[in-house]
Amino acid sequence: MIDLHCHLLPGIDDGPQTLEESIELCRIAVADGVTHAIVTPHIHPGRWENTRQSIEQDCENLQSELLKNNIPLQLGFAAEVRLTDQIMQQVDNDEIPFYGEVDGYNIMLLEFPHGHIIPGSDKLVAWLMKHNIRPLIAHPERNKQVMKDIELLQPFIEAGCWLQLTAGSVTGGFGEQAQHIAHQLLQDDAVAVLASDGHNARARQPGLKQAFNAIAGQYGVERARRLTLHTPAVIVASQFEEQAVAV
Ligand SMILES: [Fe+2]
Repeated sequence: MIDLHCHLLPGIDDGPQTLEESIELCRIAVADGVTHAIVTPHIHPGRWENTRQSIEQDCENLQSELLKNNIPLQLGFAAEVRLTDQIMQQVDNDEIPFYGEVDGYNIMLLEFPHGHIIPGSDKLVAWLMKHNIRPLIAHPERNKQVMKDIELLQPFIEAGCWLQLTAGSVTGGFGEQAQHIAHQLLQDDAVAVLASDGHNARARQPGLKQAFNAIAGQYGVERARRLTLHTPAVIVASQFEEQAVAV
């Protein structure tokens, strides 16, 4: 499986704080069946000041540590970009790492605030799409406003956004409401990608297998493979020399 959303780099956001913790998380991911992980540290002005350049360097460093430790996990990088009014500037400054390009659009992991959807978000999404940037919205099922009214996602879907579910939401780890929304989106076949959003070795582990099995049981194994393997492989194809997956 390919994990498109996880926090594995040490000391740069609310993921692992030390190299040892990072390596432990990578071991957990591999044991769970992950072969490729795209690290997605937060880019959140005023909170997590990461950039494409800094993330690329940190990713290379961790990859060489994994080689030294014989951990068979291929890393790529992007970022979880917080929706703020600074995104346009960040794009202009080339500070945002994208996953890769699909059908002429650079794919960007976009994070809404957890509590609500900021008025004007639709305009920002329209600006991004006009600049050939397609948002993959991070865990919409965990947004408190979406939990109350799933229809709030519709304008974003119609504008061209793709949706990323968090594995733990599917299996109930983020509560009943998030699980309910996750399954409604799965029933509507509105989900592009399933990812771990792993942060630590405790409650927020990297790994997809439990949710993979739940989705395979309920919606079929082909769906589970599409969300964890086929679509992610297309999105990050440019990041790996060999074909990341036998699709
Ligand atoms: Fe995240």
